[in-house]
Amino acid sequence: MHVKKIAITTGGGDAPGLNGVIRAVTLAATKRGWECVGIREGFDGMLHSEQFEDGGIVALTPNSVRGIAHTGGTILGTTNRGNPFSYKVTNADGSVETQDISDRLVDGFAAHKIDALIAIGGDGTMDIACQVAKLGIKVIGVPKTIDNDLDGTVATFGFDTAVSYATDAIGRLHSTASSHNRVMIVEVMGRYAGWIALEAGLAGSADVILIPEIPFDITKVVEKIERRNRNNRRFSIISIAEGAMPIGGEASYKETGGVKNLGGVADRVADTLRPVVENQVRTVVLGHLLRGGSPTSRDRLLSLRFGAAAVRALEDGCVDVMVGLDPPTVRYIPLQQATERMKTVPLDCDMILTARDLGTCLGD
Ligand code: F6P
Repeated sequence: MHVKKIAITTGGGDAPGLNGVIRAVTLAATKRGWECVGIREGFDGMLHSEQFEDGGIVALTPNSVRGIAHTGGTILGTTNRGNPFSYKVTNADGSVETQDISDRLVDGFAAHKIDALIAIGGDGTMDIACQVAKLGIKVIGVPKTIDNDLDGTVATFGFDTAVSYATDAIGRLHSTASSHNRVMIVEVMGRYAGWIALEAGLAGSADVILIPEIPFDITKVVEKIERRNRNNRRFSIISIAEGAMPIGGEASYKETGGVKNLGGVADRVADTLRPVVENQVRTVVLGHLLRGGSPTSRDRLLSLRFGAAAVRALEDGCVDVMVGLDPPTVRYIPLQQATERMKTVPLDCDMILTARDLGTCLGD
């Protein structure tokens, strides 16, 4: 495929490693003599260029991406509200409606003479990428999410950093929990998939791990805590994914400024435990701390590999695919296929079996 100019966008929630992809794509593209630009804040830089001081489209050069691979966040900015196919528009009377403004993308790509798009993001961004491809724009998807719930790749970058941080946090709680004979509940991100809660819980020796894939029975959790108390382990640590829910119940949400976000399950479990266990119960919500900071070496490597592989795909004329990790290599899967299902924790996977063998309570 003849490529002269490509654009990069980062969409959805940020994850450590985004800047590594931007650097790798820019360097690999420059090496091939291609021009590279970044679209600010998802697609907003192109959809609403007038709102950006620099016009919303910025040149990416080896100079401008120097020294960023180890940094968190994204130098391009991101948004989880900028879907061009259902863009939220506030009318003069304050009412909000969604509009399909994707034709602005087509016009923008033509005006800037951009040959292809590298879309870095999670499930939402891959869905959008799929629709963008249908508009005739050549797209390569690069999977990102700390939740690790994208199908078609063994891992997404950002996940390892999140697990490392959560493991460290759980590790730190052991001494304070033990000193006070407390139950400490650590809530981590993980909307539909419990990968972070499970891996950090296992690595951090949590006594109870609760994930969305296994709706929990609170009596099993109480039994585990009481058993530990009787065995003179008078503290317990619970690692819980924000999307976890009791059997027959719903996930917990918090409303802030009219927007409902997942959150609050740790407090909900704490409220249920307090009247029935003798221990004091405390909660810690790691939330966005898991998305911040410098990527681990594993995530830096993954982001650089994904970025370079995305450029190789374009060079080879392989478009409308998502880059995925398939150790020891990186492969390409059709974008459509990548968005078909979510990668949740299989209930028979080795990690679940390991947790059970170690006597960790999974709430069932
Ligand atoms: O998709 C990753 C994720 O971290 C989810 O686990 C979480 O629910 C969500 O992003 C929160 O994102 P934000 O607060 O940016 O909307």
